[in-house]
Amino acid sequence: MIRPILTYPDPELKKKSAPVTVISDKIRELANDMAETMYDAPGVGLAAPQIGVHQRVIVIDVAGSDEPPALITAINPVIIHAEGETFEEEGCLSVPKYAANVRRHAKVVVKGLNLDGEEMVWRADGLLAVAFQHEIDHLDGILFVDHISQLKRDLFRRRYRKSLEQEHTD
Ligand code: NI
Repeated sequence: MIRPILTYPDPELKKKSAPVTVISDKIRELANDMAETMYDAPGVGLAAPQIGVHQRVIVIDVAGSDEPPALITAINPVIIHAEGETFEEEGCLSVPKYAANVRRHAKVVVKGLNLDGEEMVWRADGLLAVAFQHEIDHLDGILFVDHISQLKRDLFRRRYRKSLEQEHTD
């Protein structure tokens, strides 16, 4: 089921999510809904708090449109190693029509559980490394705009408010 995606400045996006203790049918349904919602948007990643569920679950698929889907579902993901630096443009389904360059680690190793409760280790670089960092941030109530400079953030807030106002008057 496709669920509505919360958008900035919804306070639900700022809350910290709790670890999943049992991978129940409810969690499996949540993960399925998240994947469906992400593909429908479309986006390359989605975290549970973006649909208002404060559980540590993320879905990512950075496969290109000409490649087969490569869905990653990570439960309680933790970055256990990070190295290098990258500064690429990011967007977010919860911050529509805005993109900014964000400083991130170039490579990460992420530990977590899959939907079968198996311990997984994902070694990621490029877009996948950025996606893991972006989605795990969501679980801690952090948006990519929280990483940009104060000056850019002020500009973002003004423009964003204006675009929201325009949408309401359209
Ligand atoms: Ni996001």
